[in-house]
Amino acid sequence: MINKKILITMCSALFTGATLQLATISSVHAAEAFIITNGELERPTGYREWIYVGTPVTPNDMNSGKAAFPEHHNVYIDPESWAQWKKDGTFRDGTILMKELVSVSSKAAVSGAGYFQGEYIGLEATIKSKKLFPNDAGNWGYYSFSGKDHKTLSKTAKPFPAASCNACHAAAAADDFVFTQYYPVLSQGKAKGIKATGGHDSELNNSYIEPKAK
Ligand code: HEC
Repeated sequence: MINKKILITMCSALFTGATLQLATISSVHAAEAFIITNGELERPTGYREWIYVGTPVTPNDMNSGKAAFPEHHNVYIDPESWAQWKKDGTFRDGTILMKELVSVSSKAAVSGAGYFQGEYIGLEATIKSKKLFPNDAGNWGYYSFSGKDHKTLSKTAKPFPAASCNACHAAAAADDFVFTQYYPVLSQGKAKGIKATGGHDSELNNSYIEPKAK
């Protein structure tokens, strides 16, 4: 009887150990939603199923025919980083945001005049990593997969020198070099927990809506 008890205790200790080890291994895998090979970022896949945060638009026809980042910018954050953002309003080490460029296909629809999304025409990314960018402000690095003609994407991307991208982000972005002021899912979901996920409040958070003219 005693032997049996000892055996059971030993087995469950072993089992707990194995489970703990498994948990550690899988949390390492879940930690980063990107792969760096020989210093280059492999083009992430599946990001359209991450958390969509907003769509700034810089149409060519409002930017002398040549917007720096044409035209709609659909922005996504990886799910683990979203989980931390809605919990405490910070970007964790290992955050990745994707910015997918989409053309303006049409400027009129049955709903009215406007800018409507057409073709995918480019892909940019930013990653926060102490390990990869120990000396860059906020530890953010910037990448582009966009072809010059906006028709193809590269398989991998080298990080840009921080100065060519980050100065602008440092000067004008609302939260830790990220332009959360243009992404309502992030600005209005900051540290809001479950309320960040939609439908939980009866009142809209109108902090970024222009006040009505009197
Ligand atoms: C002239 C200022 C400016 C420069 C230079 C700039 N950005 Fe940005 N970037 C912005 C603004 C403004 C936004 C948010 C609104 C938008 O997308 O238009 C943004 C958003 C982004 C985002 C989405 C996540 C975030 O941080 O808000 C990525 C990714 C990004 N930029 C990549 C780049 C890359 C790569 C470069 C360098 C090649 C670069 N940016 C250079 C102004 C700039």
